[in-house]
Amino acid sequence: MTEEKDWIKDLVIYQIYPRSFYDSNGDGIGDLPGILQKMDYLEELGVNALWLSPVFRSPNDDNGYDISGYQEIMEEFGTMEDWDRLRDGCKRRGMKLIMDLVVNHSSDEHPWFQESRTSRDNPKSQYYIWRDPVDGRPPNNWASAFGGGAWEYEPQRGQYYFHYFSKKQPDLNWASPQLREEILSMMEWWVDKGVDGFRVDAISYLDKPQDFPDSKLPPQPDGFSFPDCLAGRPGTHAYIREMNRRVYAPRNVLTVGEVSAPTVEELANYVNTSREEFDMAIPFVLPMVEIDTWSPEKLRRDAEESYAALKDQGWWARFFSNHDKPRQVSLYGDDGEYWEASAKLLGLFLHSLPGTPFVYQGEEIGMTNVKLPRIEDYDDPDTQNRYRQLLLSGASPEAALARAQLESRDNARTPMQWDNTEHGGFTTGQPWLKVNPNAREINVEAQRQDPRSIFHFYRRLIALRKERPALARGDLSFLDTGCNELIALTRSLPGERLLAVFNFSAEAHTLPARLLEGAGEALLSSYDRQGGCQGPALRPYEAALFPIN
Ligand code: GLC
Ligand code: CA
Repeated sequence: MTEEKDWIKDLVIYQIYPRSFYDSNGDGIGDLPGILQKMDYLEELGVNALWLSPVFRSPNDDNGYDISGYQEIMEEFGTMEDWDRLRDGCKRRGMKLIMDLVVNHSSDEHPWFQESRTSRDNPKSQYYIWRDPVDGRPPNNWASAFGGGAWEYEPQRGQYYFHYFSKKQPDLNWASPQLREEILSMMEWWVDKGVDGFRVDAISYLDKPQDFPDSKLPPQPDGFSFPDCLAGRPGTHAYIREMNRRVYAPRNVLTVGEVSAPTVEELANYVNTSREEFDMAIPFVLPMVEIDTWSPEKLRRDAEESYAALKDQGWWARFFSNHDKPRQVSLYGDDGEYWEASAKLLGLFLHSLPGTPFVYQGEEIGMTNVKLPRIEDYDDPDTQNRYRQLLLSGASPEAALARAQLESRDNARTPMQWDNTEHGGFTTGQPWLKVNPNAREINVEAQRQDPRSIFHFYRRLIALRKERPALARGDLSFLDTGCNELIALTRSLPGERLLAVFNFSAEAHTLPARLLEGAGEALLSSYDRQGGCQGPALRPYEAALFPIN
């Protein structure tokens, strides 16, 4: 990372899912003026960068991740003038503004696609991926990420188009120089308008194997197989470098790639500074995989491995939550008895790792998963697909619903809980997705008034990153605790050392006493309400941060 890019190390990035943040006009849908009205709140929290999930023109098949106009604002969210006001509000407060760029695919309602589908020889004919039928069938056996096959027939051309996501999200053809030029100049246009950075969606799939071989992976219950040679192709890295050279590097733009990278080595391919691709990467992991495989031990190992892989040449995006995952306190913590302590523990763990922390809206008040009573209550196409696949594989409707409730991306998408009034104060109308009934107890207003709340814990955490340089930039070492559920780590810079300890379980555990030698009074503890951390015996989900003398 060049020195002029060093500013990204001091950011705490807050992700807003605009549809669910705050509704300013009572139509039940969050919007840009709603975000503007909550800027004081964000400033009070202390974050210094906002990442907005897509706000571009979209028919909302996948809540904005299906763009039908890259240089327009989604009507339900407001106008370009609202966006300009939001940009100015960010600049005034010294906050960076990061936009979500979806360029693996567009909406089928984008004018490019509308034209491309009409014939084989129109000017936009090559903007998407078209293939002839093979023996009257789709070109290969690939599954779409949202269920069913990845090819859709277009009678006007007598051809199929490829869509890795829903059939309303046709993949753009990056092999076309004309298409690449459209995308790159659109990106420049946004940077010229004042965008500080991009989170780049689903970026590992840009280059396609032109012969589209059948996948050898076992079929999903509906008969299609996920592609086995799509992610991370050398051609994709070449396209990313082209974006970097042309758009990011000359303008000092921050970039976060959302990548499909199952190993740290693959992740490093996107962010190792010598490769000149992205500044940070968000690996995409399927919620069901995480639910079934995570453990405190694995969190520690992952942190250790990613640290080793990038410490000399790279930087990390640190997140537990986003709009594609269940709520972190429900997934890795305890959303029952130890809700408050475990929400604080997770916050401290993430912010004590080297890298730039991401806070997903509602995380700072410990928002939890929701259990909507019927499958029809879920809006997310991915949830609907998973439910169907489970039924096809023989699960009972009750079991399939229970699993969907656990995994659903809608867990993270229920509206922000502002106060204890109807619909959590999110809207005066009918919310587009049901508000979690626990908004009566878990809400911003209640926590702002309670100095020991999760909200105030996050405020102190974010402030500490500015006061204690070792937290953002220090070296990381994990200490041996002799117990998988106990994690202890240090962060050190010349002249400053910090120790963080965590009990990732609902049982009490005792740390080896020597680990606390030299520790001063705790700077922060998940048991503040009970008098703070009192030594090596850690209570359930107890976590604390100490200076070391
Ligand atoms: C990314 C987004 C997700 C979306 C998908 C397709 O994974 O985070 O929300 O559904 O890409 O754009
Ligand atoms: Ca609205």
